[in-house]
Amino acid sequence: MDLSDLRRDFGKFGLNEDKLPLNPIELLRNWLEEAKKSDIKEFNAMVLSTTDPSGNPSSRIVLLKELDNEGNLVFYTNYLSQKGREIRVNPRVAVNFYWRDLEKQVRIAGTVRKTSREVSEAYFRSRPLESQLSAIVSPQSDVIDDLSVLKKKADELFISDKKISMPGFWGGYSVKPHTIEFWQGGKNRLHDRLRYNKNQGQWIRERLAP
Ligand SMILES: Cc1cc2nc3c(=O)[nH]c(=O)nc-3n(C[C@H](O)[C@H](O)[C@H](O)COP(=O)(O)O)c2cc1C
Repeated sequence: MDLSDLRRDFGKFGLNEDKLPLNPIELLRNWLEEAKKSDIKEFNAMVLSTTDPSGNPSSRIVLLKELDNEGNLVFYTNYLSQKGREIRVNPRVAVNFYWRDLEKQVRIAGTVRKTSREVSEAYFRSRPLESQLSAIVSPQSDVIDDLSVLKKKADELFISDKKISMPGFWGGYSVKPHTIEFWQGGKNRLHDRLRYNKNQGQWIRERLAP
């Protein structure tokens, strides 16, 4: 498939540092709000990249469930999944958002910690029962013979009298960003790129060449 002719010009919006907050978390919150208001489907979907012990990177989509007061990005998953195993060895991750209609990209680097059990449990209980059951029965990222085995397990759990509780292998992660780049598409490929780096507790802003 030759995609070399696929081109799109940007430049509907601009990015002027004089009008932007000095704190990138505030800016990220504004951009998330804008994406939500613009009716972008799954605007909270983000690419999460991790690395294995040999340094091989791996990416997948997860859903941002909270941008907390400290500016951490929270998502939920199986701690024994590929991403969970990789995070345990190397908690440094990258996160990426792309909102096509807004011509925006956000690129984040940070470190990850597990959320508290209380936070994870509160979120687990807020999910539909079917999702709770699937989280319990699915050994995420393991090789399986057949999906029907998991469906059967979930059905059995559903009709059993067993109390449904969050398994220990499931919960939240919170990404603490140390670098956040805001990318806004510009005319003729002269895009705006503003990168915020945390240095001794202070956010430093720089403009990057597109
Ligand atoms: C739109 C979308 C949202 C997703 N959200 C999550 C999520 O919040 N948590 C999660 O564990 N997996 C989520 N997934 C599935 C992951 O992309 C991935 O398949 C799964 O987490 C296993 O990844 P791993 O094997 O690298 O650990 C989502 C997938 C898509 C397409």
